[in-house]
Amino acid sequence: MVAIRPLAGENEARCCAEMMCSTEPWITIGRNFDESLAIVNDPTSEVYVAVEGDRVLGFIILMMRAVFSGYIRTVCVDPTSRGGGLGTQLVQFAEERIFRETPNVFLCVSSFNPRARQLYERLGYEFVGELRDYLIRGASEFLMRKSIGPLRQ
Ligand SMILES: CC(C)(COP(=O)(O)OP(=O)(O)OC[C@H]1O[C@@H](n2cnc3c(N)ncnc32)[C@H](O)[C@@H]1OP(=O)(O)O)[C@@H](O)C(=O)NCCC(=O)NCCS
Repeated sequence: MVAIRPLAGENEARCCAEMMCSTEPWITIGRNFDESLAIVNDPTSEVYVAVEGDRVLGFIILMMRAVFSGYIRTVCVDPTSRGGGLGTQLVQFAEERIFRETPNVFLCVSSFNPRARQLYERLGYEFVGELRDYLIRGASEFLMRKSIGPLRQ
């Protein structure tokens, strides 16, 4: 059975970093293991892992104190576990946690990652805008948002 819970310990952090730096879109973005590990261990973020026994199948990183609060910084599922609903489960888990505090979820998706964008659109995310040449030249990051209401309500 898969459980989603907070990241625990350096071994799990390294496992997430390895998963991140060895898959698209981060290969194209050029994010190496050390950079990935720094992101996973960033104390300003919250990291949740999807685990089956002691195996990490995927993870999601949230920022609750960013420019846009309720920002999903990273979501990643191990290649062998993709297509079975785990990515959806991680995003929905993050939404539940974020919507307890704030009515918006934000995320960015790379222009060369149309399948992830499709997944977000299916989950109700709307395209906000295009950040051209944001991470690497020649590609864009698309800012997306899912909202359950205005901030002042
Ligand atoms: C995006 C991702 C987290 C989705 O996880 P998942 O467990 O496969 O997601 P689900 O099973 O809930 O949904 C599958 C949907 O995800 C999307 N998807 C995006 N990239 C995918 C991939 N490499 N393999 C399978 N599905 C992918 C598709 O829309 C797919 O729907 P489809 O089967 O109708 O094409 C996962 O594919 C992944 O880790 N990709 C690499 C990292 C990434 O792109 N992260 C998002 C950065 S913004």
